[in-house]
Amino acid sequence: MTNKTALITGATSGFGVEIAKNLVKNGYSLFVLGRSQEKLKALQCVLNEVNPTCNIELIKCDLSSLQSVVESCEEVRSKCEQINLLVLNAGLWNFEFKTSKDQIEETLQVNLIAPTLIFKRLRSLLPTDNSSKVIFTSSGLHQGTIYYEDIEFRKRFSGFKSYRQSKLGILLITRLFALKPAYSGISFYCVHPGVVNTKLGRNAGWFANLFFKLIGKSPKKGARTHIHLIKEPTSKLSSGGYYANCRMVKTTRQSYDMEMAERLEQLIQNYIDTRSAKPESV
Ligand SMILES: NC(=O)c1ccc[n+]([C@@H]2O[C@H](COP(=O)([O-])OP(=O)(O)OC[C@H]3O[C@@H](n4cnc5c(N)ncnc54)[C@H](OP(=O)(O)O)[C@@H]3O)[C@@H](O)[C@H]2O)c1
Repeated sequence: MTNKTALITGATSGFGVEIAKNLVKNGYSLFVLGRSQEKLKALQCVLNEVNPTCNIELIKCDLSSLQSVVESCEEVRSKCEQINLLVLNAGLWNFEFKTSKDQIEETLQVNLIAPTLIFKRLRSLLPTDNSSKVIFTSSGLHQGTIYYEDIEFRKRFSGFKSYRQSKLGILLITRLFALKPAYSGISFYCVHPGVVNTKLGRNAGWFANLFFKLIGKSPKKGARTHIHLIKEPTSKLSSGGYYANCRMVKTTRQSYDMEMAERLEQLIQNYIDTRSAKPESV
């Protein structure tokens, strides 16, 4: 049992539920960020069954709104002084062009800009003694590149490309942050959970849903690599690593391109600075 504190997104559905269950089972105090109060309450009941004495804070947060992300991070900051673990797992896959509350293509905002912003807003709460971890959820679908000429796919939308780009993006951010002197003492990892039977294909109609149902592993199995990274000491893991099946694996050539990563971080920061209702430089 631990007395550490963790924060998780994407725990109200899919394999994130299993990660949250494992955290409270092991004694973590937990901040859960989610967009639906109803789903947050339902999750709390599930987690209370796993550990009736667990300490859970439910925080309403819509990752498609920069303001909502900033406000929820402020709420977290007002309620605790230290966080040992961030599990930034929430994500979506759209099959039609859709914009966020800030008029940004939604996949880009929810899968890439929001987790980066959460880390930046909370990083001063993470101990820099090599014990704290930030775990992002990437995907095996991260091939290709960052389409700087039309990063939101406004000219011609492709749900596949925009999802793949967001998952390459979070992989690049993982590797970049692991190398940044400003973040030294914090470890960064990203995960491909495998194909998991979840609601990820919900916006794609019956075919995608059937695909995840037939091919996907159970959410319990889908959570294994995250749980492995949470459990292992940082000394046995590689910061900046991409993990699948509980092992670090090599990824595409582009995903090691730190010039591309620097440019991407700059672009994300630009979105944060220019699209927030109140500009929030971090
Ligand atoms: N399933 C797979 O095969 C697979 C493979 C590779 C990577 N992944 C990645 O794994 C992660 C978890 O996905 P999943 O498969 O478990 O899918 P899921 O069942 O659809 O769960 C997605 C989670 O993200 C949350 N979310 C989405 N948009 C949000 C927003 N605007 N604000 C706040 N929360 C939001 C959802 O909240 P609600 O409950 O409110 O909808 C839910 O908790 C994602 O990053 C996904 O890209 C999945």
